Amino acid sequence: EKILFAASECTPFVKTGGLADVIGSLPQALQDAKLSEVRVILPLYDEISSYWKEKMERKATFNVKVGWRDQHATLYTLEHEGVLYYFIANELYFTRKGIYGYYDDGERFVFFSQAVISAFPHLDYEPNVLHGHDWQTGLVMAFAKISPPLPNLKTVFTIHNIKYQGMMPHQAFDDLFNLPMEHFSGFEWNGMINCMKSGLFHADKITTVSPSYAEEIKDPYYSEGLHPILHERDADLVGVINGINIKDYHPMKDPYIKVNYKHSRVKKKENKIFLQEEFGLPVNRDIPMYVAISRLVEQKGFHLLERILEDFLQEDVQIIILGTGEKEFEDSFSHIASRYRDKMVTLLKFDEGLARRLYAGADFFIMPSMFEPCGLSQLIALQYKTVPIVRETGGLKDTVQPFNDFTGEGNGFSFTNYNAHDLLSVLMYSLNVYHQPEHWSRLLKNVNKSQFSWKESAKAYAEIYELLVEPAMIEE
Ligand code: GLC
Repeated sequence: EKILFAASECTPFVKTGGLADVIGSLPQALQDAKLSEVRVILPLYDEISSYWKEKMERKATFNVKVGWRDQHATLYTLEHEGVLYYFIANELYFTRKGIYGYYDDGERFVFFSQAVISAFPHLDYEPNVLHGHDWQTGLVMAFAKISPPLPNLKTVFTIHNIKYQGMMPHQAFDDLFNLPMEHFSGFEWNGMINCMKSGLFHADKITTVSPSYAEEIKDPYYSEGLHPILHERDADLVGVINGINIKDYHPMKDPYIKVNYKHSRVKKKENKIFLQEEFGLPVNRDIPMYVAISRLVEQKGFHLLERILEDFLQEDVQIIILGTGEKEFEDSFSHIASRYRDKMVTLLKFDEGLARRLYAGADFFIMPSMFEPCGLSQLIALQYKTVPIVRETGGLKDTVQPFNDFTGEGNGFSFTNYNAHDLLSVLMYSLNVYHQPEHWSRLLKNVNKSQFSWKESAKAYAEIYELLVEPAMIEE
């Protein structure tokens, strides 16, 4: 099958979160396994470095209707590691600092969505499936259904996070869309234009990034108001767990880390010693080290950690937090670190190399998310033989099984309720297991066996495409 991904971010060009990692690795995985040909279309933000821009080729220019506006678009192409990328440039919408967060984000992604459709005659590529990701491409699903740019084009829409929906006042329908009023209800939700809803309403097939999240979002607690539409589309909704690029995240080959290792605990601990030296912590390979590497936002469960952190710091442990985000968390974690200088370090920045050295050096990875569609960092942690401690939600629940010291099963630690003391008690249990060599080595054996490459998930996507494109043949 020929697939075209439409998305708003993609590594290595431009990234704000896990979405970019998926868009930057799933196409290769599908192609490497010879399952589909995949190309990707993205906005050309200013943010994208000139290193990439200089390699791009200008392919076409065309006009894009955004309501009464007639906007100019330039289409560029770039090949990178076997995948062809298209970029859509427009000075008004994308020549700005940063990626999101503008008052006219709605209009910007109406433009991008319309431009994706208008680009079809210029692509030199006839996809069977147009696959959109998150709210920024919800309207792509709608426009493709209402006026298909190719006959028999099928659509797939993936929810990476239902919290962000791209909402605009209902007047936007007249102002930004050139569509007859009969289509209004496919875009409207609670009196607003809602891009996420438009995607869910119009796509042929809906996926999300883990089986558990696919169930959770049918429940009002997780649905951010969209459960009625997900119930309507239940038959077309499926959860496929994300993978990570295991060639890139590989403790044996990772050039960022000090001592490469495979399964050797001794070598892994040398990485811990480097961290202790670097950050002025007592140097002792036997003190358990806990890390959190994350955007410091409510979704990731930092309210829970904040609440019990000082209690946990009474133990003989070391904690390092790396990331930036909401001021409340930045301030409180810095403050606590300043009071426990020999036990805790807070690093308010984003630094890929440092992140990898932390994955490598730590014994435990803390991720008590309030909700988590998939989560990639717990998969990276497992890949670096670091034990994840998570809340049982979404993809965390699907990838981390709680360790049971009776049966010896489980590759991490987890708790169910969004409750700080449940987190504390599971942290205390992890410490307990760490100090019991027999249990600890059993747990590490299970961790060593946990690997989440794209292999299985790429197959699952390929099957979805195949069923959409040639349903009859599959039945035979
Ligand atoms: C979003 C979700 C995260 C998921 C990622 C990639 O960032 O919050 O859980 O892993 O998308 O699908």
